[in-house]
Amino acid sequence: MSEIIGVIGSGTMGNGIAQVAARAGYTVVMRDVSDAFLQRGISAIDKSLQRDVDKERLSTEEKQSIIGRIRTTTELEPLRDASFVIEAVTEDLTVKTEVFKALDRLTSPETILASNTSSISITRLGAATSRPEKVVGMHFMNPVPVMKLVEVIRGIATSDETYEKVRGLTDKMGKTALDCNDSPGFVSNRVLMPMINEAVFTLYEGVATRESIDGIMQLGMNHPMGPLALADFIGLDVCLAILNVLYDGFGDPKYRACPLLKRYVDAGWLGRKTGRGFYQY
Ligand SMILES: NC(=O)c1ccc[n+]([C@@H]2O[C@H](COP(=O)([O-])OP(=O)(O)OC[C@H]3O[C@@H](n4cnc5c(N)ncnc54)[C@H](O)[C@@H]3O)[C@@H](O)[C@H]2O)c1
Repeated sequence: MSEIIGVIGSGTMGNGIAQVAARAGYTVVMRDVSDAFLQRGISAIDKSLQRDVDKERLSTEEKQSIIGRIRTTTELEPLRDASFVIEAVTEDLTVKTEVFKALDRLTSPETILASNTSSISITRLGAATSRPEKVVGMHFMNPVPVMKLVEVIRGIATSDETYEKVRGLTDKMGKTALDCNDSPGFVSNRVLMPMINEAVFTLYEGVATRESIDGIMQLGMNHPMGPLALADFIGLDVCLAILNVLYDGFGDPKYRACPLLKRYVDAGWLGRKTGRGFYQY
């Protein structure tokens, strides 16, 4: 049997990670808290692979064998023999800490425990285990099967050996690993979120319309999506939460979230997922 990759969480990111790992030839064990969530994850994988079949980038047999390499479970036990486990559960420190403690008890001391967190400190997750040198951030981008980058985050104790193994895994998944040290927002969100926030401020202050703001960044900076449309895609609640992590982490007012962003989140206008954000869907 091929090497086992464990994936915890079968939501947007978890099912994407399971798909690329299985496509790279690994046996995948995907765990969630209910069969209904797991079913939803598998059908998202099926749909995503079917698009490649329709575009003749993948045969139906290959699609079936990729899905056949993904085992689903609501238990932790089947993850015991995994050589890597990638955690992609809800962005909540308590939930993630519990997952890391349980994985630390269950898996071999050699197993690498990775988190796909967007903002939680890898150093803190590492400290919850007896193997902080084997704990690392693997920050995949959404949608996982499409986006090339994996931002690899080294906690204060993450070893070079762990980093090299993670790099090997990302290469096999057809992704590019770029590393950074553990710091609020890592690199990706520390650079992206202030840009999005500033775009919201320009809207708030009436500097330009949403269409102008997005158009200026698309046509002028060659961004594929304007910052307001991108915020809607990410989720305005997620953007606000990450800005708050930056604000708290650095104690610097330059990361203060725009009041308009807070107001939209208060209204439940969270972007594409709720049908309304800066645009209507
Ligand atoms: N959505 C994005 O664009 C994006 C991008 C990069 C990173 N992330 C990060 O990825 C992680 C997951 O985000 P998502 O968007 O996939 O969330 P999601 O809500 O779509 O999925 C989370 C899944 O985790 C499951 N879960 C919760 N507790 C669990 C547990 N103890 N064991 C197993 N499963 C559990 C939930 O049932 C749910 O299915 C978060 O840390 C998030 O910050 C998200």
